[in-house]
Amino acid sequence: MEHDTIAVIDFGGQYAHLIATKVRRQGVLAEIRQPEDPIETFSPYKGIIISGSPSLSSHGEASGYTKAIYDLDVPIVGFCFGHQEIAKHYGGTVVHGGREWGRANLHLSQEHSLFKGLGPVEQVWMSHYDSVTGIGADFQELGYTATAEGAEGHRYAAIGSDSLKRYGLQFHPEVDDTIHGDQIIANFIFEICGCRPSWTMEGFIDEEQAKIRAQVGDRSVFLLASGGVDSTVAAVIIGQALGPERLQLLHIDNGLMRKDESRQVLELFGELGLDENLHFVDAGDTFLRALHGVIDPEEKRNIIGETFIRVFQDAAKRLGIETHLLAQGTIYPDTIETGATKRADTIKTHHNRIPLIQQMIAEGNVVEPLVELYKVEVRELGERLGIPHHVLWRHPFPGPGLGVRLLCNDGVADDTGLDAVESQLRELGRRFELEALPLPIRSVGVKADLRAYEHPVLLSGNASWSTLLEAASTITADVPGINRCIWNLAPTAPRTVRPLAATVTRERLDLLREADHLVTEALIRHDLYDKVWQCPTVLVPLEFDEGAGELVVVRPVHSQRAMTASPVEFPGALVEDLRKSILALPGISGLALDITSKPPGTIEWE
Ligand code: XMP
Repeated sequence: MEHDTIAVIDFGGQYAHLIATKVRRQGVLAEIRQPEDPIETFSPYKGIIISGSPSLSSHGEASGYTKAIYDLDVPIVGFCFGHQEIAKHYGGTVVHGGREWGRANLHLSQEHSLFKGLGPVEQVWMSHYDSVTGIGADFQELGYTATAEGAEGHRYAAIGSDSLKRYGLQFHPEVDDTIHGDQIIANFIFEICGCRPSWTMEGFIDEEQAKIRAQVGDRSVFLLASGGVDSTVAAVIIGQALGPERLQLLHIDNGLMRKDESRQVLELFGELGLDENLHFVDAGDTFLRALHGVIDPEEKRNIIGETFIRVFQDAAKRLGIETHLLAQGTIYPDTIETGATKRADTIKTHHNRIPLIQQMIAEGNVVEPLVELYKVEVRELGERLGIPHHVLWRHPFPGPGLGVRLLCNDGVADDTGLDAVESQLRELGRRFELEALPLPIRSVGVKADLRAYEHPVLLSGNASWSTLLEAASTITADVPGINRCIWNLAPTAPRTVRPLAATVTRERLDLLREADHLVTEALIRHDLYDKVWQCPTVLVPLEFDEGAGELVVVRPVHSQRAMTASPVEFPGALVEDLRKSILALPGISGLALDITSKPPGTIEWE
C-alpha cells in the first residue's frame, strides 16, 4: 500500500464509517472492510479497528467472520461489539446485560500509550446491551466506568494486551461525546500502529472533482437544490468540476419548507453565481395530494421521495434535459440509517435512498460527491470552496422537511406495553419529584444500533436541568418500551391525554411552520441559534385535558455529526418567551422540550 492505512471492519454499527472518517481526520487513510473479506485483504494494513454492531456478541451473533485476523502481526482494537469479540477470542467472558446508554465516566486503571494525553477520568459515550465480565490471562484492565451522575458502572470498559497488541474499548471513542475520543484514535494509529499521516481535504477535493468529471463524461448534471448545506455544497463542487453551464439546478417548493424559505433559496443561488440554469417549481399542491390521508412515517418519507422524483422528471422533460445525470447532496449518515451497509439495521429510510433512486445509483446515473462525508466535513469542504459562512452554518433541515415533523395519527390510543410499566414510571417520577405521564403514541429512536419504535414520557414539575437529564436517562434505560422523555413547559401538569385523528393538511403544516418560525426567531433573539446544532419543532396530535389543541415539542440538540446528540438547556427567559408565543397559537394546547439524548432518541421524531 502506498499510504499507511487502517482497516475498519464494518459489523453494521451506526458508527463504522464515522470511525473511518475520524482516522482520516488524523491524516491517515482508512478503508472499510467487510467481516468476511478474505484474510489476504487484511494483511497490508498497519492496524485494524473492529466496529460496533447491532449483533449480540454474548449470543454468538455475527461470529462467522474472518477470525484469522487475530493471527496477523497487526495491532487490533475493537469498539463496543469489537471489544467484546476481542475479549471473548482471548479467553474472556461476555454476558448479556449491564447495558449503558449515553455518557459515562471512564476511570483509567493505569498509564497506557492508548490514553496518552488524557486525564485520570474521561467522559465517554456508551450504547450497549452486552458487557465484558472477565478477561483472558494475557489481558489487563485499562479502565472501568462510573456513570456521569456518579453511580457505579462497569469493570473492563477498556482492556488491552501489549504483548499481543490487542485492545478493546466498551465505549465509542469515534463519537464526539467521548470528549477525547479523537486523541484515543490518534494514539492507536500513531503510538500503537506507527502510522505516518498522508490524507488531506485538498487531496479529497481534487480526487472528488476528478471522479465527477470521469463519471459525467461529456454529459450534464441536474441537481435538486433545497438550499440546505449539503445540496448547496454539492452544487458548488459539481459546478467547479464541470463548469456552471453543465449544471442545471431545480428548486422545488414541496409545501414542506420553513416559512419564506423558497424565496431565500432562490436569492442564495443568485449570490453564489449559480442562477444561470436555476429553475423553480411550486409543487405544494402535488405533495399535499400525494400525502392525503397518510399516517405511517416511513410511508410519508417514501411518498415525499417519490413525488420529488416525479416532479423532477416532469420538470426535466419540460426543460428538455431528461438525459442528464441526477446529482444529490447525500451525506454519509443518510445512507447508514437506511441500512445501506450490509449489516446495518434500517432505522429510517432517507428520501435520497428510496428504491427508485437505488436503482438509478445501480445504473451509474446518480452523482453524489459528499456521500463519504459527515456534516462537519461538508461544512469544512464548503468553506474551502468559498461558500459564505452563514449558508454553511444554517441548521440542517431534513429533505422531507416539515413532513417528518408533522406527526399523524388515526386517533386511536397506542398504549402497547404501557400498562406493564405504569407503576415503575410512577415510582421513578416520585424519585425525581416529577410527574411522569406516558404518551399513547410512539416515535422512532435508536438503542444499541437498532431501530426502537417506542413511547415518549411527559415529565411535569420543577427540577434542575441535571435532574431532568438524569431522570430522562434513567427512565429510557430502565423502563422497557420508553425511548424519549419530554419536559412539560406548559404552566400545569396535565391529568389526561388523548390522541387526535390528524393527517397532513395545509392547515396543520401552516401551524407547524408558524411554530417553527417562532422557535427560530426566539433562538436568534436569545443568541442561541449558532450555539444549537439543530432544533426541530414537532407537531404531535395529542391533546391534554381536553385543551382543544395539539402538542408542540421543541427538540434543541448539540451534535456534530447527527450520529449522537445531547439535549440543550434553554434559559428561563427563552422558555417564558416560547410559552407565551407558542401556547397562544390557535390549535395548540401543549408545549414541551425534548430532553433525550441520541441514543436512545433520534433527533427527529416521526
Ligand atoms: P435522526 O432523526 O436520525 O436525524 O437523529 C439525524 C439527522 O438527519 C436528518 N434527517 C434527514 N435528513 N432526509 C434528510 O435529508 C431525511 O429523511 C432525514 N431524516 C433525518 C435530521 O434532521 C438530523 O439532522
